[in-house]
Amino acid sequence: MNTSSKRKGILLAGGHGTRFYPATRSISKQLLPIYDKPMLYYPLTTLMLAGIKDILIITWEHERELFEKLLGNGEQWGLKLQYAAQEKPRGIAEAFRIAEQFIGDDAVCLMLGDNILYGEGIADLLQKAGQQIEGATIFGYWVQDPERYGVVSFDDQGQPLDIVEKPENPSSNYAVIGLYFYDNQVVDIAKQMQPSARGELEITDVTRVYLEQKNLQVTKLGRGIAWLDTGTPSAWLEASNFIQILEHRQGLKIGCPEEIAWRMGYIDSHQLMTLANPLLKSGYGKYLRNLVS
Ligand code: G1P
Repeated sequence: MNTSSKRKGILLAGGHGTRFYPATRSISKQLLPIYDKPMLYYPLTTLMLAGIKDILIITWEHERELFEKLLGNGEQWGLKLQYAAQEKPRGIAEAFRIAEQFIGDDAVCLMLGDNILYGEGIADLLQKAGQQIEGATIFGYWVQDPERYGVVSFDDQGQPLDIVEKPENPSSNYAVIGLYFYDNQVVDIAKQMQPSARGELEITDVTRVYLEQKNLQVTKLGRGIAWLDTGTPSAWLEASNFIQILEHRQGLKIGCPEEIAWRMGYIDSHQLMTLANPLLKSGYGKYLRNLVS
């Protein structure tokens, strides 16, 4: 499998999760399970499928320990995971300021910790985006309620025309999903930005800079792909049901880092068996064992 070198990954797992209160008063939303595994496993494995192994996880300082307990330094899955703190909710684009040193001279891929992306051909799409070292790539997904998201519109030639954060009157049905590939300029762009009217460093403003430079690629995701948002209790339950239905029908897991690490050749069968042992009671370990046999 191709891997995109020189691209780092960032998972943003901060936020207060207030749309989920009281459930998220004492625990990060991204640690809640989506069916049979923690929410963060899904975006983490999306980065893995993109071929990204060097990943910074941004959390609240007081929650870092919980994430570290769950994911460690990533070595068990052939990854290199590091952690950084977001002290206040200053917006998604603040991630690039926090991650400046981590990014260094590399390109970067940011994924929001509550986004789930699933579907045939996803790994190829992601790897293609990852290999494009200059400019930015984002993904547009047709939804019935675009006003809840960043919205991208297109001209007659299918080129991106405009991108607006949560417009009252959306000019298209294409929501921008929470997965962004940027070149190294993004650090400077984020450093020069001013907060929006709602006081946040908007990711949409970052992307607009690339659009103005004519350096933005928007990949439309087709109807065979599922992009699920888990921001509210209903959306969360729908995502859990979706994963449960597919996993139960096929007997194959979605968003399983151990399996992906093994299939990508980051760990061998012996290491996979070792990872399976402490997980046998939940059935998750048995699944891992069966992969080998
Ligand atoms: C954020 C972005 C928005 C994007 C969405 C995807 O919105 O600001 O552009 O479409 O994530 O999940 P938020 O969920 O922070 O309101």
